[in-house]
Amino acid sequence: MYSHQQLMMDLVVVLLLCGVLLLPSTAKDVPFDDNYRITYGNDHVAFFNQGTQLQLSMDVHSGAGFGSKVNYGSGFFDMRIKVPNKDSAGVVTTFYLSSNSQYAHDEVDFEFLGNKEGKPYALQTNVFARGVGGREERTLLWFDPTADFHSYQILWNPYHIVFYVDNIPIRIYKNNTASGVGYPSQPMQILASLWDGDGWATDGGKTKTDWSQAPFIASYQDFNVDGCPLTDNQNMDIQRCQSPNYWWNQRKFWKLDSNQMKAMEAVRNKYMNYDYCSDRNRYPVPPLECSSNTYE
Ligand SMILES: *[C@@H]1O[C@H](CO)[C@@H](O)[C@H](O)[C@H]1NC(C)=O
Repeated sequence: MYSHQQLMMDLVVVLLLCGVLLLPSTAKDVPFDDNYRITYGNDHVAFFNQGTQLQLSMDVHSGAGFGSKVNYGSGFFDMRIKVPNKDSAGVVTTFYLSSNSQYAHDEVDFEFLGNKEGKPYALQTNVFARGVGGREERTLLWFDPTADFHSYQILWNPYHIVFYVDNIPIRIYKNNTASGVGYPSQPMQILASLWDGDGWATDGGKTKTDWSQAPFIASYQDFNVDGCPLTDNQNMDIQRCQSPNYWWNQRKFWKLDSNQMKAMEAVRNKYMNYDYCSDRNRYPVPPLECSSNTYE
């Protein structure tokens, strides 16, 4: 069993060494309805603080989900989330981007995999491009994600996708289209949900959801969207979302600087507990992007 306190201290040291990570502050108290709508489980959704905080609940009857009203072609997507506490084994809380296409689907995922009370959550990330996924990484966190809201962020621009937790990069996925690696390049909707994943989420599906603990509750804040919106009849025009007029497309966001790299490496060395790129049982030959996404 690892100690949260020790992990926290280590990370504070890393952050002090590296300096604060520079991202524009995007948290604004925007009402949910400005940018989002409920996608399912209406009767399992509750609002607080003038619609600036939302709660999804799940019981044996239903979970719930929400999504952005429009699709986006690039952006810095930020959500503040507090995941279900106590015994949450089998319960999956998500925040992700997804294209509507049924075939050659693109998707960029954060998935919080619940656990037995007292055992740590795993945060899983994944990338689908042109229908090919299977790029899971899993990391522990340096704080208790059930105790407070934290920011989970996805940068998506023409150069790379970066996953951040509280502004600290935890994973990059480069646009290596030139070398034949798939890269999400279709308009994507922002989505979030709370659902029962006990067929796979905890101990590979061996630990099941304990419905006597229901309802499970996940809370979300920060419904401001820093993204390049594409309405349906503009969907063909994703190119304009690469404009440097959007701050997340500017040179400073083309690659991580050396301090951000250091912070990411520190987190990965300490907390990552699964990386598809080093799973030789699953991929005897590592997928093409595994060499190009190395972190030197
Ligand atoms: C990925 O990079 C290629 C150039 O190598 C570029 O043409 C393409 O637009 C980029 N994809 C996205 C989604 O920005």
